[in-house]
Amino acid sequence: MPVSHPLVDRAFIGALVRDFYDRVRADARLGPIFASQIRGDWEPHLEKMTDFWSSVILKNGAYSGRPVPAHLRLKQVREEDFDIWLGHFRQVAAERCPPQVAEVFVDRAERIARSLRLAMFFRLERPQAGADE
Ligand code: HEM
Repeated sequence: MPVSHPLVDRAFIGALVRDFYDRVRADARLGPIFASQIRGDWEPHLEKMTDFWSSVILKNGAYSGRPVPAHLRLKQVREEDFDIWLGHFRQVAAERCPPQVAEVFVDRAERIARSLRLAMFFRLERPQAGADE
């Protein structure tokens, strides 16, 4: 179900996205990862992320991209970095949204983070050669 709340439109989502990426860029761990990928103008990334979140929250089909390959390329990212990312996201959502709306943003972010994380880090354990010798 799309979120239907008078406050939540593309402009609202755009402001939330900008606030979130200001914090990500200032973060000691995540800032350099983003800086290494997005050199110069941040506006195209911010517009893309506003489209992405509009699609997720308003179900308006604004974004059609493939987040998994975009993240598989990022070799510096560690699994724990997702906790930092989600920490900032929860904070921004709590500060800017009415509680029921924050809950939806955070739920979607957690689900997508889980699937990106699996795509990037899940490996079946392989028995070590000679492990029981
Ligand atoms: C540690 C966590 C994360 C890091 C370091 C990270 C980093 C990045 C970077 C550097 C890009 C730009 C890639 C490029 O333009 O070449 C990107 C794109 C993107 N990220 Fe993340 N990300 C993280 C988590 C997430 C999560 C949890 C979501 C969604 C809830 C997300 C959604 C996206 C989307 C939609 C794009 C655009 C993909 C496209 O090009 O269409 N990211 N991310």
